[in-house]
Amino acid sequence: MVRSSTPAVDPASGQSFSRTAVLRSKAWTLCPPSIAKAQIVFPDVGFRVGELRNLGVPGDSLAGILAWYSLIHLQPVELPAVLSEFARCIMPGGGLLLGFFEGAAVEAFPHAVTPAYYWPIDEMVQHLDAAGLETIETQTRVDPGHRPHAAIVARRTTT
Ligand SMILES: C[S@@+](CC[C@H](N)C(=O)[O-])C[C@H]1O[C@@H](n2cnc3c(N)ncnc32)[C@H](O)[C@@H]1O
Repeated sequence: MVRSSTPAVDPASGQSFSRTAVLRSKAWTLCPPSIAKAQIVFPDVGFRVGELRNLGVPGDSLAGILAWYSLIHLQPVELPAVLSEFARCIMPGGGLLLGFFEGAAVEAFPHAVTPAYYWPIDEMVQHLDAAGLETIETQTRVDPGHRPHAAIVARRTTT
């Protein structure tokens, strides 16, 4: 994802501009003031206001997507459509890195300004599979004082 000349996208970068910049990806965020600030700090990164449900790029046009805690606020019923949009945009063989809160069941909890959801790894993998995104690797971690963390590396299937 990093070395490709094809763009990668961080479609919900929020305030995490430095992570986006390290990936040399383009970034979408819901918050216009964040864009102005980010563009000053990292003028070479393309930032814009965007929406997870419609990335507004041609099909098969992205080397990869970074969705680091970007899907946690979606209503569970919204997840399949967003993953399908990711699969539409990522080129066959391209990558997706997801980070999220891991839990035994899909369950909401209060988080910052709006609720977030725990997702079981197995259910997330099933949704990825249904969208045409093949899971390559899963990781989980529980650090003292923090909610359980999960990461999934997936690849857009070629068929
Ligand atoms: C928990 S933050 C994670 C931000 C960043 N990816 C990081 O690693 O710190 C979730 C982000 O998702 C964005 N977000 C939530 N729903 C979104 C949507 N439907 N379209 C675009 N961004 C969305 C929020 O604005 C927020 O910036």
